[in-house]
Amino acid sequence: MDIREEFPMLVNNNNLIYFDNGATTFKPRLVIDSIKDYYENYTSNAHRGDYNISLKTDMKYEATRKKVKEFINAERLEEIIFTSGTTESLNMIIKSYFKYNLNPGDEVLITKSEHASNVLPWFDLANEIGIKVKYIELDNDFKVTLDSIKKATTPNTRVISIAHITNVVGDVRPIKEITEYAHQLGIKVIVDGAQSVPHMKVDVQDLDCDFLAFSAHKMCGPTGIGILYGKYELLDKMKPYNLGGGMNSSFTSDGIIEYKSLPQRLEAGTQNIAGVIGLGAAIDYLSLLDMDKVHEYELKLKEYLVKKLKENDMIEVYNENSESGIVAFNIKNIFSQDTAIFLNDYNICVRAGNHCAKILKDELEIKNTCRISLYFYNTKEEIDKLIEVLKNSDMLYQQIL
Ligand code: ALA
Repeated sequence: MDIREEFPMLVNNNNLIYFDNGATTFKPRLVIDSIKDYYENYTSNAHRGDYNISLKTDMKYEATRKKVKEFINAERLEEIIFTSGTTESLNMIIKSYFKYNLNPGDEVLITKSEHASNVLPWFDLANEIGIKVKYIELDNDFKVTLDSIKKATTPNTRVISIAHITNVVGDVRPIKEITEYAHQLGIKVIVDGAQSVPHMKVDVQDLDCDFLAFSAHKMCGPTGIGILYGKYELLDKMKPYNLGGGMNSSFTSDGIIEYKSLPQRLEAGTQNIAGVIGLGAAIDYLSLLDMDKVHEYELKLKEYLVKKLKENDMIEVYNENSESGIVAFNIKNIFSQDTAIFLNDYNICVRAGNHCAKILKDELEIKNTCRISLYFYNTKEEIDKLIEVLKNSDMLYQQIL
């Protein structure tokens, strides 16, 4: 069967060309059905009931943890914590672990192409406890190299916190080389996997990263559910961010709390059960596709897209040498949002603006871009249609005259 047939959004919106997969992805029927099944046939809380439908919920919830563990090849089940998304996972890592394990003057290395969720919590922590946020230099293709990491490292460097793939220029960072170097110096490595886990095989034991954050909705799963992976011994030292039901084994009237062990300790309150179940179905789906093939297909599609865009003199592509399905471009002298609105007239969805990477402008020397972010269900035919439509974009110049 054609993959596209499995996505109601593609079937029901026949003429829609969706190129905004970096923002969120469409969901296959299997995922939607798994959520519907939970709500229609066994709605119940997790880890709290002694009756059949609740036991089924427990089983489905914990089965997803196992699927995530296998999908990213974590060593232990307890290393997988459910959160609301990448943003919450990163905030937990920074505010519940590093806040208590860094000292004034300690340095954290990030880049100017990071998403806000990997910048702002660090700024906040810098203000709160006096750590320093420093930037790793990017090369001419906006890439991070091991040399640039070495150049930025000082005796005070304690953490490197970077995306695996960035959300605007789509460069793939050499995480394995980086962790190898960092760990020799006792530096921890946090990886924002929001744009990588959905698109390529990510093996946390092979990468040897200390923490990894990602979201279900960018990988065919539902919104509102994300994953925090951390090495067991680090997560075990994390101060719970939320306190309440499900995370304690006892507490007394004089304030003595005994916490549960991982992973429950970091999952207080009723969790996004439907989201977890939907994520499990999404992983089933992606596992059948084979993530190496997904990556290979997206790269080929991206190369085709860049080649076609470059044939049009009016278009400027900013990241032709990145190794992911993300392409940032502008029609010369046209505001990116005007381009997005123009493309919308032809049912083509792209994202325009700064894409939450608000300090990337220092490197890119342009504040706003249009972004195409591909997924495995996009096709060459859709790209051809975009290229045809962009040929009419001189209309946009007439509008500004
Ligand atoms: N972080 C998402 C994006 O890049 C929303 O579009």
